[in-house]
Amino acid sequence: MHSLVLMVLCAGLSFATSDSQDHNQETLMDNVLVLRVSHVHGSRIKVSLSCGEAYQDKPVFWKRNGVELTPALQGNRVTVLVREMNGGNYTCHLSPDGEYLNHTVILVQPDNRTVILEEISPEGGHIHCLAPNYNGSFHCSWTRTQHRSHAAVLLVKTNRYMDKIPCELEADGSGVICQDASCPYKEERHRITLTVYIHSYSRLEAYTRSFYLREIVKPEKLPNLRVSSGQVFSWDAPDSWDKPGSYFGLHFQIKVARIGHSCSSDKPILTNITEVRKYEVNITSRRYVFCVRAQDKHTLGPWSNWSQCTVNKSDVVC
Ligand SMILES: *[C@@H]1O[C@H](CO)[C@@H](O)[C@H](O)[C@H]1NC(C)=O
Ligand SMILES: *[C@@H]1O[C@H](CO)[C@@H](O)[C@H](O)[C@H]1NC(C)=O
Ligand SMILES: *[C@@H]1O[C@H](CO)[C@@H](O)[C@H](O)[C@H]1NC(C)=O
Ligand SMILES: *[C@@H]1O[C@H](CO)[C@@H](O)[C@H](O)[C@H]1NC(C)=O
Ligand SMILES: *[C@@H]1O[C@H](CO)[C@@H](O)[C@H](O)[C@H]1NC(C)=O
Ligand SMILES: *[C@@H]1O[C@H](CO)[C@@H](O)[C@H](O)[C@H]1NC(C)=O
Ligand SMILES: *[C@@H]1O[C@H](CO)[C@@H](O)[C@H](O)[C@H]1NC(C)=O
Ligand SMILES: *[C@@H]1O[C@H](CO)[C@@H](O)[C@H](O)[C@H]1NC(C)=O
Repeated sequence: MHSLVLMVLCAGLSFATSDSQDHNQETLMDNVLVLRVSHVHGSRIKVSLSCGEAYQDKPVFWKRNGVELTPALQGNRVTVLVREMNGGNYTCHLSPDGEYLNHTVILVQPDNRTVILEEISPEGGHIHCLAPNYNGSFHCSWTRTQHRSHAAVLLVKTNRYMDKIPCELEADGSGVICQDASCPYKEERHRITLTVYIHSYSRLEAYTRSFYLREIVKPEKLPNLRVSSGQVFSWDAPDSWDKPGSYFGLHFQIKVARIGHSCSSDKPILTNITEVRKYEVNITSRRYVFCVRAQDKHTLGPWSNWSQCTVNKSDVVC
């Protein structure tokens, strides 16, 4: 007797588990229902839709992506079968050609593979974030793959621990500008987490990136690089860099490369690091490329882009 009860219980449990492992449903935002599926191929998921309490006693007709269904789908509460990626925009109406009442968009999110955004770093990153300073505003961007260039951003959620961070989507849908309110002098205790929900037809994908602001602060290219009394180069701190400079310290990497080479040359004539905004080049050659870039000297975050001067005897171009 006991073993029978146990068997029935186990059967019930294992059924429930396999069902919930197969997919789950979540209302991501108003009017958007997401089905998370582990195996898209061959999946068939029943979804209950409701036109809404407000239309309880009305004769309700449903359409999918603006097209009537066959057989007709009627009633305030209905069940639809979603096969593989066949979600869609289910709208309910007062009659087959009547007034639009409400809608539910069904999206399908395969849970282990992404195809919409390009990978931009070898560690699997799809979202690239940068800030020119610590004032709290930062920019994140992504690139849609060639065949999904029409994919649309549904939602961007950004927060630091419990606090929401407001972001504004750029017009072309390939980036956001966010404004964190936290104080630039304070040590950061929690990471910023940004999640982009993007869909191509009924396929939804979510991409997340977590970071400390200090990891994405990249000083802007050093301005006003100039040369005086022969070979003494000097430059300014970027206008956008935080003040006072004594607190937000930068240091500078110097590279002197052979003429015709770029600043990323891996066989430079010399490299050096300095904390002052000038450098005297002491080499006999009068033909070289002088390069300089900046980094936050405390956090050792990202380096700025290079600024350069090309010295060709008396011909100097900065
Ligand atoms: C419209 O449908 C949504 C579900 O997609 C529901 O939350 C909402 O209450 C409905 N609106 C009305 C006016 O009933
Ligand atoms: C779904 O259809 C409704 C009604 O036509 C429309 O307002 C809404 O923007 C559509 N949503 C999507 C994601 O296509
Ligand atoms: C995704 O899941 C399927 C089925 O479990 C598996 O065969 C496949 O290797 C997984 N793909 C990745 C990229 O993990
Ligand atoms: C740095 O250089 C890259 C590649 O040339 C460019 O795309 C980017 O806009 C530059 N960034 C800054 C902050 O100047
Ligand atoms: C933060 O710095 C950037 C770059 O200088 C500037 O464009 C932006 O307006 C600043 N934001 C605030 C809130 O100070
Ligand atoms: C690096 O620069 C400093 C001056 O800024 C100079 O004293 C030192 O000799 C330089 N080192 C090398 C290896 O050039
Ligand atoms: C320049 O280099 C020469 C020889 O390498 C050295 O004797 C001289 O002191 C250096 N001058 C400066 C200002 O570093
Ligand atoms: C440097 O100047 C010489 C003329 O003095 C010219 O022939 C040569 O092409 C220049 N080199 C570069 C890289 O500009």
